[in-house]
Parts: sequence; structure tokens; C-alpha cells
Amino acid sequence: MSVMIGVPGDNVAGERRVATVPDVVKKFRGLGAEFVVRRGAGAHSFVRDEDFDATLADSAAEVIGKSQVVFKVTPPSDEEIDAMTPGTVLLGYLAPYSDVARLKKLAEKKITSFAVELIPRISRAQSMDTLSSQAAVSGYQCALIAARHSPKFFPMLTYAAGTIRPAQVLVIGAGVAGLQAIATAKRLGAIVSGYDVRPETREQIESLGAKFVDTGVSAAGAGGYARELTDEEKKLQAEKLAKAVALCDVLITTAAIPGKRAPQIISADMVAGMKNGAVVVDMAAETGGNVAGTVAGETVMVGGASIIGPVNLPSQMPVHSSEMFAKNLYNFLSPFIKDGVLTLDWDDEIIAGACLTHDGAIRHEGVKKVLGL
Ligand code: NAI
Repeated sequence: MSVMIGVPGDNVAGERRVATVPDVVKKFRGLGAEFVVRRGAGAHSFVRDEDFDATLADSAAEVIGKSQVVFKVTPPSDEEIDAMTPGTVLLGYLAPYSDVARLKKLAEKKITSFAVELIPRISRAQSMDTLSSQAAVSGYQCALIAARHSPKFFPMLTYAAGTIRPAQVLVIGAGVAGLQAIATAKRLGAIVSGYDVRPETREQIESLGAKFVDTGVSAAGAGGYARELTDEEKKLQAEKLAKAVALCDVLITTAAIPGKRAPQIISADMVAGMKNGAVVVDMAAETGGNVAGTVAGETVMVGGASIIGPVNLPSQMPVHSSEMFAKNLYNFLSPFIKDGVLTLDWDDEIIAGACLTHDGAIRHEGVKKVLGL
């Protein structure tokens, strides 16, 4: 029997993405897979039910009940996990570090769950990397939000009465999102500087035509990620960054440490030292913020600066973020579907590395360690 992939949708406030799109359904069908999709699941991404070449169902539970594999964007609700049967394969954002009760429930229900956040960051997995694809959307959005809120032009502008100086944009955290924010701000004509603790980012920042802010702090961690800074390093970083922060018109922060609260890099004093009319977009708002005073989902005025704490940025452009996400899931799962049959290869380092729960146990050592399980 052909593997049945279910898309129950993501009925979560503010979430507009859908876990698969019609073109990707077509590609899976080419491998012999079948689909069942909840009516309306793609509505916020402008995908109509009839655009899916899939069986339609009225509820998430009905979709899940018919599926061997479940694709989600957001972590499943308790009801959705209850609708799964032992051995159901679940793939999507599972926020593995944030909800121990859900993790235990997935294990107890014997769900084979793969968290896209845990997909190893090796070259072969780049095409599966939802963190990267969605971070690119977020970084782009941050630059646009900043430009929209800034009381200044981004580009230099010559007009009849003189010349307007371009805005100075500083981007802190030059991973996938930060580099996209730099590229977007550059395209809008701003003068851009970038900063990150991983030394290899200097070349990446400069290749986009931006200036690298050197603080002398280097903190490359495992797997291409940054490590947490020591108190000494934090102090040095703050001293060096304070000047750049005081000079910029726009500050975009995107710094993150996997599995941890976002590092607070910009102190209240640094915010107080910003220009009157400065705009801060703190992309790390949802994980605690890189900037003192950030409130997730709100814009707050601190002195003369506005601090914007956007949430779920990929949902602000759901057509492309859903398409990118759907292709990432396809690249993850498709190598294991042949003639409509799903056979997971547990010797595959990506399958093994992304697995959160399987066969009644929590499988991911890193998650267990962080959660103290
Ligand atoms: P992320 O979202 O975990 O962090 C964002 C950025 O914040 C990172 O560049 C990090 O170095 C920086 N950061 C952390 N603490 C900081 C601090 N105190 N001050 C300033 N910056 C700080 O990272 P992201 O964007 O998800 O990926 C980071 C890197 O991982 C990529 O640039 C790339 O080298 C690698 N990567 C590899 C992939 C693959 O091979 N499959 C896929 C995607 C990324």
C-alpha cells in the first residue's frame, strides 16, 4: 500500500504557512506517495483545496487518522498527538527544547518524530534545512520592517535642494538571517555594517559590500554555530559594540545560540545611547531578545528609539516560506520513498540526527542533555 502523507494544517494564531504545496505533492506522487489534506489547510498561504492533488478531510484528527506520515509546520497539539497511532512518522518544527510534556507524550505514543530543527548542518542536508530557508525570509523581512519604520531614507538621495545621506544600518548576528538582512538593506541603498562572533562571517559580510565590525571576540562553537560567550568576552564585545550602536540609524539583531535563550547583546545603556529616531528590529524577540527592552510582538519606545520585536516573520510572506519549507521536507523524506513504500534508513546520519522520538524513547542525546532527561 502506498505511503499516505497527511497535512492537518497548523491552526495556531499568527501561523500562515502550510507544510506542503501542490508542486511538492506532485513530486511526492511521482514516487508513489498519496496525500490527505485538511480542507482549508493552505488557505492562509493562498493555496486552494482544489489545487492539491489530494484526498480532502474535514478535521485535523481525520487527516492524521488516515496518515502514515504527518507533515506539520508547528508542533502538534495534544489532540493531534492523540489522533496518531504508534509508528506514525511526524515531521516538522517540534520545538524540541521547549516542552518536555509534549516530548514525553510523543515518546509514550511511540511516534517516530523528526524535528526539522535537529537536521544536522552538513553539506548534504543544506537542501533540507528549514532553519536556513525560513531564516532567509526572516532576515529579508527584518530589513523591510526597519526601512518601513525608519524616519529616514535608506538610500542616498539627491534632490533639487541637496543630498540626503543614506541611513546607517548595523546588523548583529550574521548567520543566514543576518546575511539576508544585510543584503536586503544594501539593495535598499543603506550603508551597512555587520557583526558576528564567528570569525568566518567577516568574509561573508564583506562579500555583500558591508563593513565588518571587529570586536576581537571569536566564539565559533560546534556544528557551524556560535557558542555562548564568557562574561569576560561579553564585556569586551559590549565595549566595542557600543560605539557602532550609537552611530547607527537602524539596528537589526539576529543572534541565536541553539537550544538556549537568545544572547542579550545590547544593554539598556546602549539603547539609551542610540540616536533619537533610531529603529531597532530584534529578530530574536521570540527567544528572549538580543536587546534590553524588547517585547515580543510589540513596538516599544525607549527614549528616542523604537524597539520592534517581530514574531513569526516567515508567516508574513507565506507563499514563498511555505514553498521553501515544503521543498525542504521533500528533500528530507523523498530518498526513503520508493514505489510508494517508505523505508527509513537508521544508518543515515540525517535520519538518525533529526530523530527526536522513536519506538517509545526520546532518541536525541543533545535534547536529553539540555533538558536534563
Ligand atoms: P543561528 O540562527 O543559530 O544564529 C544566528 C547568528 O548569531 C549566528 O551567525 C551566530 O554566530 C550569531 N551569534 C550568536 N551569538 C552571538 C553573539 N553573542 N554576538 C553576535 N553574534 C552571535 O545561526 P544560523 O544562521 O542558523 O546558522 C549559522 C551558520 O551555520 C551558518 O552561517 C552556516 O555557517 C551554518 N549552516 C550550515 C548549514 C549546512 O551546512 N547544512 C545550513 C545552515 C547554516
